[in-house]
Amino acid sequence: MMRALHLMLILGVAAGALACRGEPSRLPPVHLNPNMDTQDKYKPYNESGFFADGRTMRTPPAAAVARGLLKDSDHYWRGKANDGTPANALPVCTGEDTIDCLKVDMSFMRRGQERFGIYCTPCHDRSGYGKGTIVLRDAGMVAPPSYHDDQRRALKAGELFDVITHGVRTMQPYAAQIPVADRWAIVAYVKALQRSQHAALADVPGDQQGKF
Ligand code: HEC
Repeated sequence: MMRALHLMLILGVAAGALACRGEPSRLPPVHLNPNMDTQDKYKPYNESGFFADGRTMRTPPAAAVARGLLKDSDHYWRGKANDGTPANALPVCTGEDTIDCLKVDMSFMRRGQERFGIYCTPCHDRSGYGKGTIVLRDAGMVAPPSYHDDQRRALKAGELFDVITHGVRTMQPYAAQIPVADRWAIVAYVKALQRSQHAALADVPGDQQGKF
């Protein structure tokens, strides 16, 4: 009985070892759940038997515009009011609008804070006084002005948008790095920063005023 068991064990191990040395299979691997992994859709630069020129990529009809990219809102895309002057406020969504406008809520402000932290604090610092790391290390860069002087506090939302988009004097433009919606989020955050440094006791809710 013991011998038979031993024999079976040895044979089993040998069979297992042999199985591992098998040739690679030419069959496709077993794919239990296809999950739409292979599809008949057209990808760019592929061949197509359907179109006469044999290419999957089609030239869009003349004057075609991708959805949401008509860019006809001067306010949203360029920060300008109808008369072409810098807009006073953010292009906030009203009623049914869903494109070319912004929903300003807490997550939008947080996004602005985060993007400001990434793109602007190296020079302008977290509070906007123009004492960022680059300036403190005296790397030979012009120190930016504080956001909290009268001239900067008077900048309209559209002007701030313009500064980010095109830069200003010695400050470089950020249009290539920061998408339009994020530029507006940063504008909102800079406005909030300015407000925070000029807050009056009256801005504090009544029941909290006693704490100051
Ligand atoms: C590499 C450094 C640097 C970074 C990063 C930077 N700035 Fe500036 N910024 C400057 C300098 C320098 C000036 C002053 C330009 C001048 O007057 O020559 C300036 C000026 C400004 C002004 C004042 C414009 C005016 O009309 O006087 C604003 C507003 C501003 N920056 C916003 C931003 C925002 C928002 C960001 C982030 C998206 C940003 N900056 C990123 C260096 C920087």
